[in-house]
Amino acid sequence: MNTKVYYVDEHSDEKIKEAAEVIKKGGLVVFPTETVYGLGANALSEEACRKIFEAKGRPQDNPLIVHVADFDISEYTEYISENAKKIMENFWPGPITIVLKKSTKIPMLVTANLDSVAIRMPSNKVARKLIEYAGVPIAAPSANISGRPSPTTIEHTIDDLMGKVDMIIGGDKCEFGLESTVVEVLDEKVTILRPGAITKDMLEEIGLKVDIDPTILKKPDENLKPKSPGMKYRHYAPKAEMTIVTGRIERAVDYINMKIDEMKSKGKLVGVLATDETKDLYKGGYIISVGSRKKLGLIAANLFDTLREFDKIDVDYIYAEGFEEDGLGLAIMNRMKKAASYNVINL
Ligand code: TXA
Ligand code: MG
Repeated sequence: MNTKVYYVDEHSDEKIKEAAEVIKKGGLVVFPTETVYGLGANALSEEACRKIFEAKGRPQDNPLIVHVADFDISEYTEYISENAKKIMENFWPGPITIVLKKSTKIPMLVTANLDSVAIRMPSNKVARKLIEYAGVPIAAPSANISGRPSPTTIEHTIDDLMGKVDMIIGGDKCEFGLESTVVEVLDEKVTILRPGAITKDMLEEIGLKVDIDPTILKKPDENLKPKSPGMKYRHYAPKAEMTIVTGRIERAVDYINMKIDEMKSKGKLVGVLATDETKDLYKGGYIISVGSRKKLGLIAANLFDTLREFDKIDVDYIYAEGFEEDGLGLAIMNRMKKAASYNVINL
């Protein structure tokens, strides 16, 4: 397939309209959002959405998020609870996806046969114009090959999907860099199924009582089925095996330095996911700082790009410093643990 690539911003109306035409005709368009790039198709067309699964190599039991540009989502849902409305009013447009009871208008393929549907209104203006011009909601998973780190730049999507989609539009690096928070609000009960930039604390600040799906916090086992099907897959994974080292930072640095030496003697290169505070303390290895520990937002925004850079350098092993699992740290560590297949050493 011949993939058109357009560098656009929110004022590139003609190009965005051309992309919207592709969506209307049942094609695939990669587009930017504030979280990660999405791989979009007309959410009301089963045939169009089937192409998403093929292009990504995505398992059919993993449902898609439906992106909208209008607050009136009554056509796509059976019921919108008061708490769901509260979340929409406070955080839409923005990086939070709400799981609601679905209407028959949404094809079963989109929701992987679940009777709920995940809906989100992105704040990115190119994304919203694309949805408006298409005149239909757009189903979009992250625009990466299944299993790889989510794409936070247009280059990442070109690396993964060139030749597999009709069009790629975008240019800007994604503001948040981690996928949206997914929150289930079928009735008035609010449960976070995937942590993201809208944190538990932020939801509690608007007066909600919030549960966290237990599968987020630990390695999924056979008996505990995550409510968000996508959470069970190895994900965000760089090619090299990865270990996260948590606990006192001085100890983590010493341990990783020991590993760098040990691997070097075997002719192997260690990639280190470090921070501004520690990057100069490592002796050898391929060091990348994801940012300052004082700015978790920037660490979130850099994480997936860093994992992809380790792939490009072709390191043999990755050691990563850990972060506190509260606030945005919960989402960061959730993605890192998946990338590391839950390989965590606590010192
Ligand atoms: O930030 C984002 O959410 C990005 C951008 C493109 O909007 N999209 C994204 O999509 O991350 P994807 O497909 O990579 O992740 C969707 C997640 C999966 O974990 C999936 O299982 C969950 O949402 N999900 C979708 N529909 C669901 C439903 N009805 N019930 C529970 N979880 C659902
Ligand atoms: Mg994804």
